[in-house]
Amino acid sequence: MNYDAIIKAATEKYEALLRGQLERVERINANKEAIDYSTLDKIIIGVCGGDGIGPVITAASRRVLEFILADQIKAGKVELRDIDGLTIENRAAVGKAIPDDVLEELKKCHVILKGPTTTPRAGDPWPNIESANVAMRRELDLFANVRPVKVPEKGIDWTFFRENTEGGYAVGSLGVNVTDDLAIDYTVTTTEGTSRIARLAFEYAKNNGKKRVSVVTKANVIKTTDGKFLRICEEMAKEYPEINTDEWFIDIMTAKLVDEKRRTEFEVFILPNLYGDIITDEAAEFQGGVGTAGSANIGKRYAMFEAIHGSAPRMMKEGRGKYADPCSMLRATVLLLSHIGFQAESERLAAALDYCMFEDKALTITGRDTGATCEEFADYVMKNL
Ligand code: IPM
Ligand code: MG
Repeated sequence: MNYDAIIKAATEKYEALLRGQLERVERINANKEAIDYSTLDKIIIGVCGGDGIGPVITAASRRVLEFILADQIKAGKVELRDIDGLTIENRAAVGKAIPDDVLEELKKCHVILKGPTTTPRAGDPWPNIESANVAMRRELDLFANVRPVKVPEKGIDWTFFRENTEGGYAVGSLGVNVTDDLAIDYTVTTTEGTSRIARLAFEYAKNNGKKRVSVVTKANVIKTTDGKFLRICEEMAKEYPEINTDEWFIDIMTAKLVDEKRRTEFEVFILPNLYGDIITDEAAEFQGGVGTAGSANIGKRYAMFEAIHGSAPRMMKEGRGKYADPCSMLRATVLLLSHIGFQAESERLAAALDYCMFEDKALTITGRDTGATCEEFADYVMKNL
């Protein structure tokens, strides 16, 4: 068989991909300066409901933000701006992960609070558009996905720094079906892409009294991209001699997180995108499930805060939407407040959530009519602020 035509077609796609990535490298190398929120006259917080249970839990978070930032909003220092249109119906209609007008609106904000969005998969009634999450992280260059997981009674206090724009996700929609029998995907590591996530993690460790940073890869097998990621982290670790940096492979780390004797030793993790995606769901499970975990997507210019779970279409189909758990979005709100410089407000909300979720438990969320509604729970948290 003559492969020439097949190889030529695949090579053309590969060439386009390389051009895109080389341009991206130039862009991120040119944009290393981070925004300083304290110099802004007004901070604009975009609020995007998303799909499924998204609008329900986002509305609860919005109310809490409105309440806790009432003075700043009145003084014109903060604006909450609703951004509609990031729904699966709209995205499917224009065949884009983020419709252009929505992206334009998002770019006028400083930070974004975003509800979960539905990602179509094979067999769904929707066209196979890219995940809105992945697209937003890429378009706004939100390179760090920071996910805290805390279970005080089990001695767990972890902070995951997941690289958010590279790895297999950078070009996840640009894989090639070379023939009916051969499919190829690509994974990407860049020097600046790794340096900036590693820097954020080490600085976080240093500023928060953390003694240990664990770098998690599969560099023994994925030698080129994971190897580069690991090497850059190792190099940077030398600048932080007071921190104990160690290296793990993702498989054994996944096991160690269930090892009750060892896992309490871990503090800060740095991981490439895919491993970070997987292990943060595992970690959130110890805390009570993905419904309880929020995440920060941080870039130099923008930041976006969200739940770590999906849009729960089944809950909506069964009419249980109003019983959705807002805790993940409220945890994301804690991260948002701290990120834009409202540390005291962030701590107040975190303390109220801890009290309601783990101590008082006067109301509980079960996801059905046996528990509180999302709105009732938000009121309960606000009463305990
Ligand atoms: C997450 C989610 C997303 C991801 C999906 C929805 C694309 O699982 O935020 O962890 O894989 O990053
Ligand atoms: Mg995930």
